[in-house]
Amino acid sequence: MLKPLRKAVLPVAGLGTRFLPATKATAKEMLPVVDRPLIQYAVDEARAAGIEQFCFITGRGKTAIVEHFDVAYELERTLEMRGKARELAELRAQQQEPGSIMTVRQQVPLGLGHAIWCARSFIADEPFAILLPDDLMQCDISCTAQLAAAYRETGGNVVAVEEVPMERVNKYGVIDIEKDMGRLVSVKGLVEKPPIEEAPSNLTIIGRYVLMPEVITHLAKMEKGAGGEIQLTDGMAKLIGHQPFHGVRYEGRRFDCGDKIGFLEAQIAFALKRPEMAAQVREFLKTYS
Ligand code: UTP
Repeated sequence: MLKPLRKAVLPVAGLGTRFLPATKATAKEMLPVVDRPLIQYAVDEARAAGIEQFCFITGRGKTAIVEHFDVAYELERTLEMRGKARELAELRAQQQEPGSIMTVRQQVPLGLGHAIWCARSFIADEPFAILLPDDLMQCDISCTAQLAAAYRETGGNVVAVEEVPMERVNKYGVIDIEKDMGRLVSVKGLVEKPPIEEAPSNLTIIGRYVLMPEVITHLAKMEKGAGGEIQLTDGMAKLIGHQPFHGVRYEGRRFDCGDKIGFLEAQIAFALKRPEMAAQVREFLKTYS
């Protein structure tokens, strides 16, 4: 019997150096795409996959992320008095069930693997999803829901993957493919940010995972990997051979919002999906071509 997937870990303790100076005093995850912060897209995506419990791995300067999910009583009251029913309904719709969000502090950003290890008490002995909120997904079916479906099919660990041009593989965690079945691939190895000539493929891991709790045992060894950081990829690699491990070619598009160009592209792509603004956006874009 597979354990149901109910938990998600959202690491938000990174420094966001690629987005300075915007991220000097503001969390990267609070940067808005159209009208909602990145963190909200990630939470909505996870909820659409049936996730009930959330753990944010936070750090210094990240309190706004937690406040975003609080009830803003004075604001709600003011909206009510001013008859702004639509805005009020929108705020209330994104309210989370009391007790469903917890936060854990990663005092020093030692790497993504270390951030996940910080959530060990929350994870306990259950499978869990990881969503990196700066990877913003535009998918008809929630990307995390696609992973959850694959988990129910294969059991074990599943990660969302995509092909990138070979000259960019050194920026990602890369998959050594055992068997390519199309949408699913079974994995025989993983390597974080390999030199281009040593990369086992151009199939890379994006910021969506469903992992088994045993990964924590490997992360607990605090072994440093690429860039001197405690890498999640290295911890995951140790699970291979002991548990099923699959990549899922997800359906949809990813925008790397930790990167300025990816963030700009996301603004356009998400605005074009909004019926109330798409026509206007198309119109002004013409003036730049
Ligand atoms: P990134 O590689 O994007 O790092 O982290 P970063 O620090 O956020 O941004 P740059 O590269 O300096 O611009 C990927 C994810 O892992 C989290 C980040 O918050 C982001 O969601 N992370 C990374 C942590 O929570 N802790 C860490 O120690 C490192």
